[in-house]
Amino acid sequence: MKTYLVTGAAGFIGANFVKYMLKAHDDVRIVVLDALTYAGNLKTIAEDIDNERCFFVRGDIGDKDLVETLFKEYKFDVVVNFAAESHVDRSIENPQLFLQTNILGTQNLLDAARRAWVTGRDEQGYPTWRDGVRYHQVSTDEVYGSLSAEGFFTEQTPLCPHSPYSASKTSADMIVMAYHDTYKMPVTITRCSNNYGPYHFPEKLIPLIINNILSGKKLPVYGDGMNVRDWLYVEDHCKAIDLVVRKGREGEVYNVGGHNEMTNIDIVRLTIKTIHDIMEQEPEYRKVLKTDREGIDWINDDLITFVKDRLGHDQRYAIDPTKIHDELGWLPETPFAKGIVKTIRWNLDHQDWIADVTSGDYQKYYEEMYAGR
Ligand code: NAD
Ligand code: DAU
Repeated sequence: MKTYLVTGAAGFIGANFVKYMLKAHDDVRIVVLDALTYAGNLKTIAEDIDNERCFFVRGDIGDKDLVETLFKEYKFDVVVNFAAESHVDRSIENPQLFLQTNILGTQNLLDAARRAWVTGRDEQGYPTWRDGVRYHQVSTDEVYGSLSAEGFFTEQTPLCPHSPYSASKTSADMIVMAYHDTYKMPVTITRCSNNYGPYHFPEKLIPLIINNILSGKKLPVYGDGMNVRDWLYVEDHCKAIDLVVRKGREGEVYNVGGHNEMTNIDIVRLTIKTIHDIMEQEPEYRKVLKTDREGIDWINDDLITFVKDRLGHDQRYAIDPTKIHDELGWLPETPFAKGIVKTIRWNLDHQDWIADVTSGDYQKYYEEMYAGR
C-alpha cells in the first residue's frame, strides 16, 4: 500500500485524480490536503472520503507545522501537488496570492518531504532517499509562453511565462528542479494543456459558457476569439499523471496535451450548438434552463459578445506529447467531439453542484470581472 498526499484535490483536476486513483488502484491510500478556497468544494469529493483509503485535511500547503505533522502521521510515499491559484484573470487582479501559494506553498511541501524522506548522505555529501518516494508537481503549458501560428511546445522549449499565474507556476517548476539538482530529490513534473470535464469551476471558458447559456446570459469572448488552446479531457490528464508518478524517470518533465487545438470562438460555437441539439432531442432537459426566454431558438450564436481582451493574452498553446507517448505509452483517449458532449451532459445532470459553487462570492466575482469589459 502506498500513501499519497494529494493537495488541492477539492478542486477540478485534483478531485478527478482522486476519483480515478481510488478506482484504478487497490493499493493506494490518499490524504487530501486542501485549503478550500473559492475554487475548492468538499462536496465534490465527499463520497470518496471514507477515512480508510481516503482522508481529508483542511489546510494550507504553505503551513509548515501542519504539513510536517501530516508527513509524520501518514508517512507519505508520494506527493502530488495540484494545489494552486489557477485562474489567469484572477492573477492579473491579485498577483501576490499566486506567488504565495504557487511558489512558497510548493517550496514548503518540498522541504517537508525532504525532512521526512532523507535517510542519510552519500560519500559526496548528497542526501540519500527512502526507496519508492516521489514528489510530483502538476504544472502547465503556460510556462512556455505563447506560440504564433506554427510549432509546438516540447520539453526543451525555453520557459517564457507572461501572466503572474504562469510566472508563479514557472518559478515553482524551477524550485522543484532545484531540489532535484541540489539534493537529488526524486521529482517529476507534468506540463499539461487546458483541461475540461466534470467539476470544472465556471470561471474558466468552457464551464462559464455552459453555465451562461443555461442561464440565458451573454457569452463573453475576449478580443477577437482567435486565441488557440489545446483541450484535453481531464481523465486523460489524470491517467498521464498516474503513469508519470509510477513509471516516469526521476528529474524529468513530461508534456501532456490533447492534440486538439481549437480557437475560443469555435469552442463557444460548438458548445452553443451542442446544448441546442440536446435540448431539441431531449426536451426534458429544458427544465434545467434558468431563464424566462421561450423555447430554445434563442440558443444561437447571437448570445456571443466580444469583450475587452485579457491583458497580455497568450495567442496560442499547443503541446507536443511525443515524450510521454514514446516513454510511457500515453495517448489522449477522448476525442473532443465526445468529451464536450460528456461535459455538457455532466453539467446538465449536476445543476445542484453548479448552484452550490455559483452561490455566494461567484456572482460578485462575475460582476466585477466582466463589468469593465
Ligand atoms: P482549481 O482552481 O480548480 O483547484 C485548486 C485547488 O487548490 C482548490 O481546491 C483550492 O481550494 C486548492 N488550494 C488553493 N490554494 C491552496 C493552498 N494554499 N493550500 C491548499 N490548497 C489550496 O485548479 P485546477 O484547474 O484543478 O488545477 C489544478 C492544478 O493543475 C494547478 O496546479 C494548475 O496550475 C494545474 N493545471 C491546470 C490546468 C487546467 O486546465 N485547469 C491545466 C494545466 C495545469
Ligand atoms: O493551458 C493550461 C492552463 O489552462 C492552466 O494552467 C490554467 O490553470 C487554466 O485556467 C487554463 O488557462 P487559460 O487562461 O487558457 O483558461 P481559461 O479557461 O481562463 O481561458 C481559455 C481561453 O478562453 C483564453 O484564451 C481566454 C478565453 N476566455 C476565457 C474566459 C474565462 C474568454 O474568451 N472568455 C472568458 O470569459
